[in-house]
Amino acid sequence: MNQGMAITVRLGRQVRFALPLDDTEASMSGGATNNYAGWPRPNGVAPYYTVTLEVRGPTDPRTGMLVNIRTLDRIVRGEMIGLIAQRIGEDDRDPAGWVASAWRELGGKLRADAVALSGLTFHWTPYHALSVRGDDGMVYLSEQFEFAAAHRLWSDRLSEQDNREAFGKCSNPAGHGHNYVVEVTVSGRPGELGLGRLERTVRAEVIERLDHKNLNCDCPEFAGLNPTVENIARVIWDLLSAPDALGESLHAVRVHETSKTWAEVRADDAGH
Ligand code: NI
Repeated sequence: MNQGMAITVRLGRQVRFALPLDDTEASMSGGATNNYAGWPRPNGVAPYYTVTLEVRGPTDPRTGMLVNIRTLDRIVRGEMIGLIAQRIGEDDRDPAGWVASAWRELGGKLRADAVALSGLTFHWTPYHALSVRGDDGMVYLSEQFEFAAAHRLWSDRLSEQDNREAFGKCSNPAGHGHNYVVEVTVSGRPGELGLGRLERTVRAEVIERLDHKNLNCDCPEFAGLNPTVENIARVIWDLLSAPDALGESLHAVRVHETSKTWAEVRADDAGH
């Protein structure tokens, strides 16, 4: 392998911490760890957050590293935790604004180390994330939703034998069920992203239509359409991208059929 070839690599690092600090000395004692709610650590009960940085660039041929993760930890812990603590203290309820300003500050610090920031994600619950991926001023808001549904994989365009070969036990005539997880991402400028609108729209357009339904029998969206995870993602994309739903703000729909299998439709692929 040519060690001199400058292949671009992306590196991700998640930093874990708890805020607010009710006893700063106890929360900061003992030095930094990166376990869950690692440092600052909760002294009693406190919300647990994560910040994930993605950086891109060539690796250093001497170390084999793009950047030392200790550098990333130092920048997040030194800059972003303080920024978030300050905004929480000021009762600033627009975390999209926090993430957008952190992108500018952290991106500048990393450029000083000749590293390009390519993603910054703030999780304030395990199921809600805000991220920035470039200098275009856009922020991405993601939330995970759940629904349970039954389906039978079967295509009228295939013979009975081909159906059984393609879908195996998933073609069982009486069907079977999954607990689906749907991650919906919208994009916008800080201030344009509303969690309430996202939740109301997904509940009305997706959850109320599909939850506790037999997709083949109960849902006209799947009439003549085999309810594979790919087609479920396409149907949900169509429902949510309608102008009176999330419209142009919809960025991605990812449907997990199990923790091992997912399908996604994204605006950059959908020509949206
Ligand atoms: Ni299935």
